[in-house]
Amino acid sequence: MANKEEFFDHINNGYATKGESITLGAAMLDGETLTNAFVKIPLKTLNRHGLIAGATGTGKTKTLQILAENLSEKGIPVLLMDMKGDLSGIAQPSPGHAKIDERHEKIGLPFTAKKFPVEILSISDQKGVRMRATVSEFGPVLLSRIMDLTETQSGIVSVIFKYCDDNKYPLLDLKDFKKILQYTTDEGKDELAKDYGRISTASTGAILRKVVELEQQGADLFFGEKSFDTDDLLRVDENGMGYINIIRLTDIQDRPKMFSTFMLSLLAEIYSTFPEQGDSGRPELVIFIDEAHLIFKEASSALLNQIESIVKLIRSKGVGLYFVTQNPTDVPDGVLSQLGLKVQHALRAFTAKDRKAIKLTAENYPISEYYKTDEVLTSLGIGEALVSALNEKGIPTPLAATMLRAPMSRMDVLEDNELKELIDESKLIKKYNDVVDRESAYELLNKKIEVAEQEEVKAKAEKEKKAAEQSSSGSSRRRSSSKSTQSVWIKTLSSPTVIRSVLGILGKMMR
Ligand SMILES: Nc1ncnc2c1ncn2[C@@H]1O[C@H](COP(=O)(O)OP(=O)(O)OP(=O)(O)O)[C@@H](O)[C@H]1O
Ligand SMILES: [Mg+2]
Repeated sequence: MANKEEFFDHINNGYATKGESITLGAAMLDGETLTNAFVKIPLKTLNRHGLIAGATGTGKTKTLQILAENLSEKGIPVLLMDMKGDLSGIAQPSPGHAKIDERHEKIGLPFTAKKFPVEILSISDQKGVRMRATVSEFGPVLLSRIMDLTETQSGIVSVIFKYCDDNKYPLLDLKDFKKILQYTTDEGKDELAKDYGRISTASTGAILRKVVELEQQGADLFFGEKSFDTDDLLRVDENGMGYINIIRLTDIQDRPKMFSTFMLSLLAEIYSTFPEQGDSGRPELVIFIDEAHLIFKEASSALLNQIESIVKLIRSKGVGLYFVTQNPTDVPDGVLSQLGLKVQHALRAFTAKDRKAIKLTAENYPISEYYKTDEVLTSLGIGEALVSALNEKGIPTPLAATMLRAPMSRMDVLEDNELKELIDESKLIKKYNDVVDRESAYELLNKKIEVAEQEEVKAKAEKEKKAAEQSSSGSSRRRSSSKSTQSVWIKTLSSPTVIRSVLGILGKMMR
């Protein structure tokens, strides 16, 4: 049996912080909680990303809730990807429970019930603030990656974006994009061939099929205006508490492509709009992705590379990313190797494969003279986890089996009427929930085609008239039929249009 006092000092020294920190709970040794042996995570290292893993029902989502609440309390805004719809309770205080008191007594922390400022967001028809992005903002690189296009097809997408940019056609939604795709090989084929090269119908047909596939996953609800301003994720309420922004994604579980599209575009937008952070000592925003295996499921290797690079880059913007998933192996190695905080809940050893995974997981933790890691991993109780973090200097802290604190807010979901009230009170709803369908590529191209057709009819009539005159007068002056088409439709768009990141935020980043 290890010396308890020695272990107590080992933890207290290892988790000592000078700056602000979040207390997760107290360390445990041989199944016993050591009161006041606090496991603390410095705010300074929270942009170093993390993982919350463990078998089903072991407490991962509650750990996410604890972290989110404590960040909010420190004035740090949070964004939660709520895949199961079980996080809305954060907007109400915990009703308390004898077991919670018991837990906190063991830890040595007083328990306080508290509610937190919550904003509910959505990327589909669900209730909440609608988050959208325009196709232009999304950019050709990301769009091509998401659709898993070939190099040739991606090249065409870039040309199309360039053409729309040159001609000031805003690409807002997928309707615009489909229209331009069709236009490039139909009415506009000669015009495009002149400046951009001829585009093959087979290629645009293939791209179109991919767009339809995206639409079938519900992406048509996501693309469009009004596009979401990521600064709205950074709000702090009148009491100095960071907003906990919850994106309800319960209807997206079976649509992984849509989910990864959304995630990547959001991260890319955050990366491109947030200022570079010096050593500020605290994160600007912390993002938690529950059921994170969904973004990696079915992601092509090109997409995985993209995710890996953005995870690497976004840290400098003061943004921490936390993946919550059952097994650490759900997360690709390239991402796993960049994670500073690991909160590993119990793993269950049912099969030989499970045992192998446990062994592998244990090997990835720092060696501890106090624990047999693989044994601890299978014996942790609910709401307990093996924690390894980074101290203020960026050095790994001692491994600590931790009795985690309980959430201050409600562990259960909001009632329907509570949810309605929360949504009714939202200021952002008013800003984002009106559907805008302003004149964009779709309308402009239709107008252009119409004008061209009219001109053609006019020209034909004129030609016939001339021919008749000629046959009577003998004169042979010719007129150009379509010289004015271009100016007509360029003028229709007089206001300055916002075509941000035409080459794609990520495209720029990668260069
Ligand atoms: N820190 C905690 N304090 C008190 N109770 C907890 C804590 N963590 C977990 N629990 C209890 O365990 C239950 C399951 O926790 P949770 O929903 O977080 O599990 P999970 O790992 O996310 O499960 P799943 O994989 O099914 O999503 C909770 O409803 C709660 O009763
Ligand atoms: Mg969960």
